[in-house]
Amino acid sequence: MIKFTNANIYRNSDATEILVKDGVIQQIGNNLPAAEEEIDLKGRLIVPPYVDSHLHLDYVYTGGGDDAKNATGTLFEGIARWHDVKKTQTFEDAKSRMLKGIQEEVSKGVQYIRTHIDVCDPDLTGLKAMLELREELKDNVTIQIVAFPQEGMYAYKGAVELMEEALKMGADCVGGIPHFEWAYEFGQDSVRKTVELALKYDKLIDVHCDETDDPMSRHVQLLNALVMIEDIGTRTAASHTCSFGSADDAYAFRMMGLFEQSQMNFIALPTENAYLQGRQDTYPKRRGLTRVKEFWENGINISFGQDSINDPWYPAGNGNMMNILDNGIHLAQTMSLPQLDVCLDFITFNGAKTLNIEEEYGIEVGRAANFLVLDAISPFEAVRQRADVLASIRNGKYLFKKPEPSYDIELDLFRSTI
Ligand code: FE2
Repeated sequence: MIKFTNANIYRNSDATEILVKDGVIQQIGNNLPAAEEEIDLKGRLIVPPYVDSHLHLDYVYTGGGDDAKNATGTLFEGIARWHDVKKTQTFEDAKSRMLKGIQEEVSKGVQYIRTHIDVCDPDLTGLKAMLELREELKDNVTIQIVAFPQEGMYAYKGAVELMEEALKMGADCVGGIPHFEWAYEFGQDSVRKTVELALKYDKLIDVHCDETDDPMSRHVQLLNALVMIEDIGTRTAASHTCSFGSADDAYAFRMMGLFEQSQMNFIALPTENAYLQGRQDTYPKRRGLTRVKEFWENGINISFGQDSINDPWYPAGNGNMMNILDNGIHLAQTMSLPQLDVCLDFITFNGAKTLNIEEEYGIEVGRAANFLVLDAISPFEAVRQRADVLASIRNGKYLFKKPEPSYDIELDLFRSTI
């Protein structure tokens, strides 16, 4: 039995103690029974593990070579560069890069990842490597795999068959990229196929949807309608939806009501799309973000993801979800004081809802003792300070624990001179 004391639990301000046995939370409250081991958290904020709801693990660390150079900094050139880069991909290379990418994320507090894996590959090399890693690492990190036709469900010959193969092999979600198809009608066909495959194989849906500044890219309308008809909105996510940030207000008003009805999830990728979008604009220059603030204020579920770690689309990225949150709330202008108290939801609870893991996620009695200790005393302070993750605990055990921060400068002395 382990007792964590002096905790400030996110979304549970009444309790300060957590009692854990055999990796499961037994009690949450105050003045709980003594335990063999007691860990004083010194008033720090405890949050459920970070969820990265959108990442491309097969692409990580491929951004450095000449083949990967994306001169225009656009999504479309990124796809062309990846087409060349993946020709050299081997199983061993893919698996070792993916492992390193997962390690980077987990070392910063992520315990849940949804990764898109390109299935436009007759050998399905990346998928095979990812399936192995998902199993090998399941005690340390929960991974969902999206069968993703990066080069188009119809633009790439044989992609639909490869999608089906990937779903049979164990991918969790059906993906799509309708705005990349060669004609709008093909994009619409791909949305229909995505929903058809999800129903056929009983899978979740996560579509790269309207990742363009073109305000007339409106595939999200059909996706939303189809999943509403099938009553699978909560099992569906629309990623990016950048065009919705450029869309006409009358269309957006109509769609907002329909999104509320379908309960479909949205995923924004703040750093990635700030970098990739607006490339055809002079000034004013768009920042590529969907209507995050309006979704959030209307109760439509939206989470943030990393998307890329050093690949042909985006040179940076390190799995630090606090950095993603920081960028996202600035770009979305969701920084009122009440919003700052709850915006950690973008990288925790909202991501869990998108992944359909709500029943196992969160700091609650009877659930796995999975949580983070942040170097801050409140949600506001965590966000204001971009707080570091001091410890990540999974099934009651440390995935990592950092030493107490110490300072070379005597801060009190320093303060007295200013
Ligand atoms: Fe993506």
